[in-house]
Amino acid sequence: MTDQGARAAAILAEISEISEPGPGVTRLPFTPEHRAALDLLTRHMETAGLTVTLDNAGTLIGRKEGPPGSGTFLIGSHQDSVREGGAYDGIMGIVLPILAMEKLHSDGIDLPFSVEVLAFADEEGVRFPTALIGSRALAGTFDPAVLSMQDAQGTTLRGAMASFGLVPDRLSALARDPKGVLGFLETHIEQGPVLQTEDEALGVVTAICGIERHLITLTGETGHAGTLPMENRRDALVGAAAIVTEVNRLGQETPGLRATVGALTVEPNVVNAVPRSVRMTAEFRSPDDDTRRDAGDTLHRFSQAIAAQHNLKIEAELTYSQVAQPCDETLSARLSTAARAVGLRGLALPSGATHDASALADLCPIAMLFVRCRDGISHTPEEFASANDMRLAISVLSEFLRSL
Ligand code: GLV
Ligand code: MN
Ligand code: MN
Repeated sequence: MTDQGARAAAILAEISEISEPGPGVTRLPFTPEHRAALDLLTRHMETAGLTVTLDNAGTLIGRKEGPPGSGTFLIGSHQDSVREGGAYDGIMGIVLPILAMEKLHSDGIDLPFSVEVLAFADEEGVRFPTALIGSRALAGTFDPAVLSMQDAQGTTLRGAMASFGLVPDRLSALARDPKGVLGFLETHIEQGPVLQTEDEALGVVTAICGIERHLITLTGETGHAGTLPMENRRDALVGAAAIVTEVNRLGQETPGLRATVGALTVEPNVVNAVPRSVRMTAEFRSPDDDTRRDAGDTLHRFSQAIAAQHNLKIEAELTYSQVAQPCDETLSARLSTAARAVGLRGLALPSGATHDASALADLCPIAMLFVRCRDGISHTPEEFASANDMRLAISVLSEFLRSL
């Protein structure tokens, strides 16, 4: 059989072509690109001996049936990318388990339980101001209120899912019975520099940080930039600038907090008119949920005060949050043992990025395997994991599954 690391690299290169035009990979949920990625993943799942279905959250499921009543182990990640992202974030955590299952299949190994490889539709939360739709549906924590959220074109999540052929009103039926689920394992590029610094191919995640996202809209009044006097202006961008500075101050001054304003839409956005409105995001992450929530509360108080000071109308909404989750000690210990079996150290490290696994923690024990990424970079077209590191990850995944 061809080297599995090389095969993973070839499949990931092929899937990376399934993207909106532009640099890197842009593959958003419930789009033609999502559909094309699922078609390709379906072919590889079938080659691995998996039976493929699509659930009403848009999660592609490749299932290998075990003995009746034996329970199901879940393994997977997300198919979507950020805008102009890389070829590994999320999608690698679907392709490597498929190849691990293919190896077990071709070696004639039957596991004493069922396995499902899952390709979730949306983890990044780039198209809609929510995320983790598929993993929350399985965990029974999906909030149907988010179906009314809109993308930048005004399409609701409900409408996008229906156009994709899904029945969003049946999402609550996807909740799994925890008694039948043995655990969830997510494989992911590290998205940080620790493994490269440690000269180690793979790591075992100890915990996933918490996250919250806010959408703030400030509305003032536009006017001619040359004739409107400076006093009594209602410039929405001046208010937004103060909020950007405050978010950054919170991140700089609060230990363990990451704070980012990542998106800003200015209207009318021309050189010679006072900005009428600004729609902006703010995101906080921390391993400590109280630290993160305190930052969110501070931001809301600050934004209200800024709006009052500049005579702006303000709408501020918490659009998405996910608590921090520790990984399961027993599953993680098995993962470390599997890593040591292929000559690695089983190095433990935390995750500063968020993952589907944090939603699945409400359903079952979770574990995560990190794969070294070059220079620790991610969410850019330059993101890279080597074929050799992916080959080791596939070996660890099959060792791990055989150890359960
Ligand atoms: C998503 O994966 C994130 O951490 O932004
Ligand atoms: Mn990811
Ligand atoms: Mn990501």
